[in-house]
Amino acid sequence: MAEFRLPPNSRITKGKHFSAVSSAKNVRRFMVYRHDPGSGENPRMDTYEVDVDSCGPMVLDVLIKIKNEIDTTLTFRRSCREGICGSCAMNIDGRNTLACTAPADGIKGDVKIYPLPHMPVVKDLVPDLTNFYAQYASIKPWLQTRTPAPPDQERLQSKEDQERIDEPAACILCACCSTSCPSYWWNSDRFLGPATLLAAYRWLVDSRDEATGERLDDLEDPFRLYRCHTIMNCTNTCPKGLNPAKAIAETKKMLAERRH
Ligand code: SF4
Ligand code: SF4
Ligand code: FES
Repeated sequence: MAEFRLPPNSRITKGKHFSAVSSAKNVRRFMVYRHDPGSGENPRMDTYEVDVDSCGPMVLDVLIKIKNEIDTTLTFRRSCREGICGSCAMNIDGRNTLACTAPADGIKGDVKIYPLPHMPVVKDLVPDLTNFYAQYASIKPWLQTRTPAPPDQERLQSKEDQERIDEPAACILCACCSTSCPSYWWNSDRFLGPATLLAAYRWLVDSRDEATGERLDDLEDPFRLYRCHTIMNCTNTCPKGLNPAKAIAETKKMLAERRH
């Protein structure tokens, strides 16, 4: 499994230690990144001892137990608790993944939890995704048509055409892939990153879309698309089993074919 660099601030200090009750039998240690940029203090790692028999099996269940019963100041995002909303993406045991689908017993030893790497931190495990969402919006992620719709029916697709968008449309925009990509770490101001490029591909291969030429024009740029060097971290880490690296390669192929 790919290991990713930890958040850029190297001055992470040892933080507080919260012990579990002594009668608990299945106690595990969770070391969690804590940072409040507004406080002026360095980031720290707090350690929580948790009886994992007293909560659900996923890392998110443990974080919710910590917040509810041990330390209400711990901050993280979550919503659906079933791998659909993408809110709970974080770096767990060196891997970007969804806390709500990551079983704690699948990790050996102490469990280290960081926010998604190389993103500004709003607080603790919450990354600032403003740039990520702006990049997503920049590829115009909606159907663009030039011809009028048929008067008596929707714009239909064949089953085969629908299947081409099936996988890229399953992206939940969790940002695990983009924040595992070294090219994105160093050029996130100009490189769109794998999540947004997968979304761009989803519209490029949609048989109903009539803006393919403009979409390709927008991507033909040394940074927006071509900063991808096929390192494959993105595909290896996607918690939904999607393949943004392949979508990027297909997009480059479409551009190459257009030139000939
Ligand atoms: S394949 Fe491209 S987008 Fe994916 S991690 Fe590598 S450089 Fe980044
Ligand atoms: S491609 Fe996978 S890892 Fe990337 S944003 Fe979509 S669901 Fe998340
Ligand atoms: S809480 Fe929605 S994906 Fe984890």
